Amino acid sequence: MPSSLPLSFALLGLFASRVLCGGVTEASWKALNATVGGRLHLGVPFSQPCFSRTSSNAVNVPNPAQCGEIQALYEDHLFRSSRFGGYQITQWETCQTTGDECLLDWTNTTNPAAFAAPRQCLQGSVPSYYIDVTGPEDIRAAYTFSKKKKVPLVIKNSGHDYIGRSAGPGTLALWTHNLNSIALSTGFVAEGCSNEPQSAVTFGAGVQFQAVYDFARTNNVTIVGGADPAVGATGGWSMGAGHGALSPAMGLGVDRVLQYKIVTPDGKFRTANKCQNPDLFFALRGGGGGTFGVVLEGTFITSPAVTMQVAVGTYENTPENTVKLVKALGKSATQMASDGWGGYITPSASGGVWANPLLDVGAAQKSAAGVVSAFESIGGGVSFFTMPTASDFFDTFIAPNTDPVGRPQVQSSRLIPDHLMANDDVLSALATAMVSSDFPQILAVTPYAFKDFDKNGTSINPAWRTAVWHVLSMNVWNFNSTRSERETAYQRLKTVWTPVRDLTPGSGAYFNEADTYEPDYTTSFWGPHYAKLLAIKNKYDPHHLLDCWRCVGWKGPSDPRYKCHLPAP
Ligand SMILES: Cc1cc2nc3c(=O)[nH]c(=O)nc-3n(C[C@H](O)[C@H](O)[C@H](O)COP(=O)(O)OP(=O)(O)OC[C@H]3O[C@@H](n4cnc5c(N)ncnc54)[C@H](O)[C@@H]3O)c2cc1C
Ligand SMILES: *[C@@H]1O[C@H](CO)[C@@H](O)[C@H](O)[C@H]1NC(C)=O
Ligand SMILES: *[C@@H]1O[C@H](CO)[C@@H](O)[C@H](O)[C@H]1NC(C)=O
Ligand SMILES: *[C@@H]1O[C@H](CO)[C@@H](O)[C@H](O)[C@H]1NC(C)=O
Ligand SMILES: *[C@@H]1O[C@H](CO)[C@@H](O)[C@H](O)[C@H]1NC(C)=O
Ligand SMILES: *[C@@H]1O[C@H](CO)[C@@H](O)[C@H](O)[C@H]1NC(C)=O
Repeated sequence: MPSSLPLSFALLGLFASRVLCGGVTEASWKALNATVGGRLHLGVPFSQPCFSRTSSNAVNVPNPAQCGEIQALYEDHLFRSSRFGGYQITQWETCQTTGDECLLDWTNTTNPAAFAAPRQCLQGSVPSYYIDVTGPEDIRAAYTFSKKKKVPLVIKNSGHDYIGRSAGPGTLALWTHNLNSIALSTGFVAEGCSNEPQSAVTFGAGVQFQAVYDFARTNNVTIVGGADPAVGATGGWSMGAGHGALSPAMGLGVDRVLQYKIVTPDGKFRTANKCQNPDLFFALRGGGGGTFGVVLEGTFITSPAVTMQVAVGTYENTPENTVKLVKALGKSATQMASDGWGGYITPSASGGVWANPLLDVGAAQKSAAGVVSAFESIGGGVSFFTMPTASDFFDTFIAPNTDPVGRPQVQSSRLIPDHLMANDDVLSALATAMVSSDFPQILAVTPYAFKDFDKNGTSINPAWRTAVWHVLSMNVWNFNSTRSERETAYQRLKTVWTPVRDLTPGSGAYFNEADTYEPDYTTSFWGPHYAKLLAIKNKYDPHHLLDCWRCVGWKGPSDPRYKCHLPAP
């Protein structure tokens, strides 16, 4: 191109010839942008401001102020989720098959080896474009565009999904993060129903748990939520099951939701509850996010404020101690769950924390005697505390010790049923998985003591109801990984979790915290409900405008949007 050509003319030529995202022209994107009121944006990788090169070695002018903030807050859950291009589990910002990425060194975010030239900031699996969703019209526009232009859609909320369901190369994303309304109702009746009014709270789809717990404290109510300040209350969490420390006593997210407002792929804005679109409501209560439509808001039961009894165990984290601890804790785990305790055992934090909203101080100490002796048997100990509210429990014991994010982490997990909880082979296999992974955790968060659930109303695997522990582990890599290191991280999970699966036949795994390559995933996630869920998926999304990895109706890995997933180990 002659250098004398005026700049605007040169740009015009560039635009006319630039064909992005599956052969869609710049003009089509412009038209979509006009339809959504200018809220269409390019998906920019989270760490791009640190890089001086983008794809094809094009120059990117680094922004030192922005880069400094990204480096300082690289593992901050709320900060990461506030940026469209930020994913908590960072292999989903990358392309695992090719190694394309735009990551920093999570062990030292100022390490220039990750971002200085010749390294380039590559798009990886960050969606090409996104719409900052404000209402049903944006969602309808995206459906129409996707159907006409064959651009795959993804729904992204906080970006916590462990198996990449809120990312995808060459996709158009619907970002629900800014739907942040919260409204309390003391006399809520689901639309079209005629039951007794009850106390409930309605969240816009972007509302995150820190805001939920703050709201609960301010309004002197209890809201069951997860153990992370930045996970969304209404998105993937509530639709996939949704556990927290209160779940053993008060139920899962799917047990507490009363109503969703959703735009289904036929473009209809619907209310889903027990009285309207009950099939859809059933599917949304456990069938998973990203599958049946874009949810705009969810309404959840609120309960009176509760006092929480808290037990904190500490020990010296050595592999030998962890093995002994897992085996000892297994023996009292079913009794603890029956008594309403929810908890987390985290070897990397050298301890565990349990909370109970049902017992008083004396009863709590008696109930937790098995936990005390388990810790004492390896030279550790347990302390007891009383917290005035669930929000105080969250702020004091959970939020300061959140699970690590901002790094590539691959995960596997299993629900452990009550009748196998004291089984020595099962506990040995779990202990082996714990000490053979980079980040293991036992979550005592199943709804075990909560018997007042809607028997046929939720679509989670019924294995959740008789499970006592949800046990998981993760392996990590860094910015300079090789493909073979990435494959090994998955392979190591397969090696330790295959025996656990084999020893727990008929159980399952948590849709939201599962192995990327979960075998027989339809049974594992939904048990007997899969056929019904599939029929509902086909009814509301016959053209498969919304498909995601190992979701209901998934057609397998051959679609180009999954080209960054490695083959199963
Ligand atoms: C650090 C960490 C801690 C966690 N802690 C817990 C925990 O304590 N308890 C627990 O149960 N789980 C926990 N999880 C798992 C969590 O529930 C899932 O990652 C969940 O999918 C997050 O949902 P999201 O909407 O916030 O995230 P996203 O990744 O944005 O979305 C997850 C899925 O939901 C879909 N989705 C999101 N919003 C909508 C919407 N409005 N309409 C339709 N589909 C939507 C997306 O398409 C995607 O498929 C944790 C995860 C991480 C990384
Ligand atoms: C969409 O339009 C808005 C407002 O004109 C603009 O700021 C934005 O950059 C446009 N998006 C894209 C992807 O061009
Ligand atoms: C992090 O990297 C920077 C830049 O290379 C270096 O100066 C610093 O010492 C490193 N910090 C640690 C804790 O290794
Ligand atoms: C908060 O709610 C609890 C339980 O309903 C009640 O006992 C308490 O008096 C309330 N506190 C305030 C300050 O309203
Ligand atoms: C639940 O479904 C089963 C099997 O379809 C049926 O037998 C049972 O009556 C239902 N229970 C309720 C409470 O609706
Ligand atoms: C990758 O980076 C880490 C962290 O900076 C470093 O310790 C390691 O040696 C690097 N590995 C290779 C193969 O360069």
